[in-house]
Amino acid sequence: MQAWKDYQDQNKDRFLEELLDLLRIPSVSADSKYKNDVARCADAVKEHLLKAGCDAAEVCTTAGHPIVYGEKIVDPSLPTVLVYGHYDVQPADPIDLWTSGPFEPVIKDGKIYARGACDDKGQMFMHIKALEVMAKTNTLPCNVKIMIEGEEEVGSSNLGKFLEDNKEKLKADIVLVSDTSMISMEHPSIESGLRGLAYMEVEVTGPNRDLHSGVYGGAVANPINILCKMIASMHDENNHITIPGFYDKVADLTETERKALNNAPFELDEYQEELGIKEVWGEKGYTTLERTGTRPTLDVNGIWGGYTGEGAKTVLPSKAFAKISMRLVPHQTSDEISNMFAKHFESIAPANVQVKVTAHHGGEPVVTPTDSHAYKAAEKAIRTTFGKDPIPTRGGGSIPIVALFEKTLGLKTVLLGFGLDNDNIHSPNEKYDVANYYKGIETIPYFHKFFAEKE
Ligand code: BES
Ligand code: MN
Ligand code: MN
Repeated sequence: MQAWKDYQDQNKDRFLEELLDLLRIPSVSADSKYKNDVARCADAVKEHLLKAGCDAAEVCTTAGHPIVYGEKIVDPSLPTVLVYGHYDVQPADPIDLWTSGPFEPVIKDGKIYARGACDDKGQMFMHIKALEVMAKTNTLPCNVKIMIEGEEEVGSSNLGKFLEDNKEKLKADIVLVSDTSMISMEHPSIESGLRGLAYMEVEVTGPNRDLHSGVYGGAVANPINILCKMIASMHDENNHITIPGFYDKVADLTETERKALNNAPFELDEYQEELGIKEVWGEKGYTTLERTGTRPTLDVNGIWGGYTGEGAKTVLPSKAFAKISMRLVPHQTSDEISNMFAKHFESIAPANVQVKVTAHHGGEPVVTPTDSHAYKAAEKAIRTTFGKDPIPTRGGGSIPIVALFEKTLGLKTVLLGFGLDNDNIHSPNEKYDVANYYKGIETIPYFHKFFAEKE
């Protein structure tokens, strides 16, 4: 569509400037210090929705951070696309490792560096700009509802209720999300699945107070030593997880599915070199793509206890802690796996310590269909703007709300992501390529066009 291209070309610089402004707002959802910034970001998103051509837009308060909602209804008899994204970001730490301020976006070598550049401000903003392109050229082929939340990075705990309370308002035919990655600009791809998540915290207590490690060392169990041993025992020599029942419900892929998955371009050498590792790691019998896309995991996200300050302090600590997450695949459920973990962790604790296990947020895995009208519309959109068919892949990350879209609203999701695996999301120096940003804005209107066309 020439009108789209012209409009985008004429407004390119502004589209970029507006994103940079949004990235300057430190909308860190996990840290209450940023509560006002999160609210300010919600207001900014609402203003952008109105400017882009929404008939109405509002900031909806929740028990946590607000949800921004807007819509443009062209004709109730046309199909409706519900766009979902998030304006909140992960904390920027460790701040010292950033080469420029996380909330002072800079463009270097065609890449935007800032927290949220890719996850998800850059990607969700493509939808607002794509809506603007369609609305301002009077070419919107369907109705658009757009919901941008502020708690994705902390588990979307209030979004489920919002869906329940607003079933009528959110009525749509498909959910469209750009919050995942593709292989590369040369090899566009569409993720057709997301892993679920069970996130636990454990506390191991030994003696009733910190002790002198000389006076008591060797005679009293050290909870940090014990915790490390317990954690280590949760993988066997094949890197299989040892929690009884853990794999019971895991759906094995058919040989055809495995083949298709491993057909995606992937260079092990490049992968290792990019990460600075000599060798990959993982469950025996599976390739790297299978390990991240189709197999469940157990990882320590943080571990602490004892003395970690400057110098040396001889201490036998009273307590040790760890945060442990498990990525889940169909048909595991987060509740079931959390319970299994807790039971197992308690059962392997030796008598010389006491353990406490608590569950944080969870989320269910999803597989999105690749034979639907919606997927085909996404495929055709990519083909139009990239000149290539997208490769279906399975993503390793989690977006817990996607399972709830299906459960609560009965809606399937298309994951039309434009990020790259090396965008450093959640890491220092997060970036998003300007080219991917523009390509997304160019591609999204075609999704709407092809989705609105009859099957
Ligand atoms: N956008 C990511 C998820 C993602 C990234 C999916 C890359 C596929 C590819 C999302 O913002 C995220 O970080 N989700 C969290 C889960 C959440 C409950 C904190 C995750 O995956 O750790
Ligand atoms: Mn995200
Ligand atoms: Mn994220």
